[in-house]
Amino acid sequence: MDSHPTGIVLGSGLGLLAEAVEVHREVAFADAGLPVSTVPGHAGRFVFGTLGGAAVVLMLGRVHLYEGHSPQQVTAGVRWLAAQGVRNLILTNAAGSLNPHFAPGSWMLLADHLNLTAASPLSGGVFTDLSAAYDPRWHAALRAAAAAQGMPLHEGVYAGLRGPQYETPAEIRMLRTLGADAVGMSTVLETIQARALGLRVAAFSCLTNWAAGIAPAALDHHEVLAVGQQSADALLRLLSGSGGLAAPDEL
Ligand code: HPA
Repeated sequence: MDSHPTGIVLGSGLGLLAEAVEVHREVAFADAGLPVSTVPGHAGRFVFGTLGGAAVVLMLGRVHLYEGHSPQQVTAGVRWLAAQGVRNLILTNAAGSLNPHFAPGSWMLLADHLNLTAASPLSGGVFTDLSAAYDPRWHAALRAAAAAQGMPLHEGVYAGLRGPQYETPAEIRMLRTLGADAVGMSTVLETIQARALGLRVAAFSCLTNWAAGIAPAALDHHEVLAVGQQSADALLRLLSGSGGLAAPDEL
């Protein structure tokens, strides 16, 4: 077994990816010393196995600041994955779209982020360079693999907020002014922790809805889960297809 599996953190509604993995071993969050998420759609376990022939370890069910967990707890999974030998980490999340060209149901690579949680997992610690937090060469390879498959894949800026309430239309207008294309309640602290540990990070938002005020519909967690489940297939095809999980060390 590859001693450096690719880590993949699965966000809301995206757990279906686990069904395509040839499972070698599972570890419950509790057995890894991690807090268990209370949010529907977030099971708490790691799955070691292979996907499209590549060694992977999935993290199913992250924990969030909005559940009352600390920045340290929210990023414990990333430290655990690094301790298992993970060097390349894929983060996924469900997010609202602020960009009129990025329709719900499509995927967006995170070119960069805005950490608007007012929190850091590194408090008391290390100055960490985030000038290329999301690996540009790995992203280029993922874009090429998506293009080869005919999969639409946007790229843009993700704003990470604490939640759990969805945003107001005024907050969404503010975020657009700040340059955000998508908004969600996870990922940014995990990226910061991963970069501090020297991991390579690629990240995907599943755009599950128009952000507040962009479309007339009210936001609903069940809709977020349902669109995530419908879109999970496209990401699965990308990652399990040729080039999808090519080791970025070799790019
Ligand atoms: N806002 C914040 N988080 C989200 C959204 C949203 O519109 N959709 C999915 N997660």
